[in-house]
Amino acid sequence: MEKIAARHKVLVIHGPNLNMLGKREPEIYGHQTLDEINDRLKFRAAELGLNIETMQTNHEGEILDRIQQAQTAFDGVLINPAAYTHTSIAIRDALAILSIPVIEIHLSNIYKRESFRHTSLMSDIVTAQISGFGPHGYLLALEGLAQML
Ligand code: DQA
Repeated sequence: MEKIAARHKVLVIHGPNLNMLGKREPEIYGHQTLDEINDRLKFRAAELGLNIETMQTNHEGEILDRIQQAQTAFDGVLINPAAYTHTSIAIRDALAILSIPVIEIHLSNIYKRESFRHTSLMSDIVTAQISGFGPHGYLLALEGLAQML
């Protein structure tokens, strides 16, 4: 009997304050809500033949728990660590343990903003980074990840 290849599984982690998208500084982050971004991601994932799970949390420890579980449960991770990008050595250390691809995403171009946003504590250990494409960046990241899997 022909064996059907298992679909690759992708975990999407949205960090703090991203639940406020749509209402949050739309001139910087756009008008799409997080639900709309997730719906588009799920639609594109289905087209690409990927299974996708999305989560958002405002709590650093929860992000750490999910990253630690990702190695065995997922084939790749998309993460927008939001403000933790610039502060969390703990998230960096957790991501550094993973051997599956990790794509760091930012809606805004963090290098064009306040100087404290110019440093990402993750950028030198992730597989790739997308910054400044707005909500479309999530789809670009998913497509890039699909090519790698
Ligand atoms: C962000 C950029 C961060 O500097 C900021 O703290 C965020 C969102 C982005 O997607 O552009 O919360 O990660």
